[in-house]
Amino acid sequence: MMKYRGGALIIASGLLLMACGQQESQEFDLELSKQKWNSAFLTWNETDLRLLDKGERLFRKNCSVCHKRDGRGDIQLGASALYNSPIVNGQKPALIQLILKGKKGTSMPPFAATLNDEDIAAIATYIRNAWGNYAADTVTAAEVNVQR
Ligand code: HEC
Repeated sequence: MMKYRGGALIIASGLLLMACGQQESQEFDLELSKQKWNSAFLTWNETDLRLLDKGERLFRKNCSVCHKRDGRGDIQLGASALYNSPIVNGQKPALIQLILKGKKGTSMPPFAATLNDEDIAAIATYIRNAWGNYAADTVTAAEVNVQR
């Protein structure tokens, strides 16, 4: 009986370690993030890098089903490409409004109720700087909040 319990304990700690390992792979990695986002033309600080990485995670979870991971959109779903988009790369208020309220008459859903200001700020920052988009700025939670 004692032996069996010991075995169970070893299996349990093994599972715990595996879970931690998995968790770790999703955690912020400063060096990796620098490699991904910094270029010869642009150096982000750590706060911004965290925001970009968070935005990427949230985009993949909430938006990529229609707009695809690479932002190319989906013709069948009528979801526009987000790279090279004047709305994505243009004035922040219009972009924030579109994410908060969606677009009537299309399948673009409103996210005001499901995403908080920080989340929308992170997503907006990400899409303005991913796939060749080059706003080279961040969107803040305060900027999102005034559009609600
Ligand atoms: C269920 C599908 C769907 C999801 C999920 C979705 N969108 Fe959309 N999105 C659309 C459609 C459809 C349009 C095109 C509307 C139109 O015809 O102008 C659109 C348009 C847009 C536009 C305007 C682009 C342009 O140049 O016209 C932006 C920006 C955008 N979406 C961002 C997002 C973001 C950010 C998310 C996630 C938080 C998201 N979308 C989630 C379907 C979706």
